[in-house]
Amino acid sequence: KFYLNFIKDERWRFIWDGLKVTLQVTFLAVLIGIVLGLLVAIVRSTYDKTGKLRILNLLCKLYLTVIRGTPVVVQLLIIYFVIFASVSVDKIIVAVMAFGFNSGAYVAEIFRSGIMSIDNGQMEAGRSLGFTYSQTMFYIVMPQAFKNVLPALGNEFIVLLKETSVSGYIALQDLTKGGDIIRSQTYSAFMPLFAVALIYLVMVLIFTKLVNMLERRLRNSDH
Ligand code: ARG
Repeated sequence: KFYLNFIKDERWRFIWDGLKVTLQVTFLAVLIGIVLGLLVAIVRSTYDKTGKLRILNLLCKLYLTVIRGTPVVVQLLIIYFVIFASVSVDKIIVAVMAFGFNSGAYVAEIFRSGIMSIDNGQMEAGRSLGFTYSQTMFYIVMPQAFKNVLPALGNEFIVLLKETSVSGYIALQDLTKGGDIIRSQTYSAFMPLFAVALIYLVMVLIFTKLVNMLERRLRNSDH
């Protein structure tokens, strides 16, 4: 009966629309995360290497500590119910901001480890060729660092894809919420929840495969 109803009254719409929301939020959040993470990583490693940008470095450290030290669900709730308490704003935007802001902290550490993985000799070589610190950073160090962290960035995408499943806390109808709505309306839990799980699993497998392919290609280009 469930299957018949499912096809008849278009319950699959909850899944399909939810999936679109999940992918939208994930893609946009990763983009924000990468921009934010890159900025924070640049500030942090500039301070590490030159001792400049002390105050900014302190702010970045505070950001990293608070974001990584509190659950993303709580951050999402705070942004929705406290920061946007008196403004009406699209829930998708709230979620994108929350997950993007959260992701930035994790991406910053990914980039920082990438920058640190580049031998100091690269910086010295650049400087001795007459490049300034920032020129060496942007033309010599960052391109190599970026290449090294690409797989980790792909992984961050996968983490976020699953992490956005808590969006239902602010009543955003993502994939998980879509399945859960079907569950609550049909009193049938097995089908919708396993369908949701399967969809996440397939997406994660696909992206894992892509990340692995990327990793292999990057390794080959070293030879
Ligand atoms: N689930 C954990 C939390 O609530 C980890 C979040 C990971 N986020 C990320 N962008 N990698 O904080």
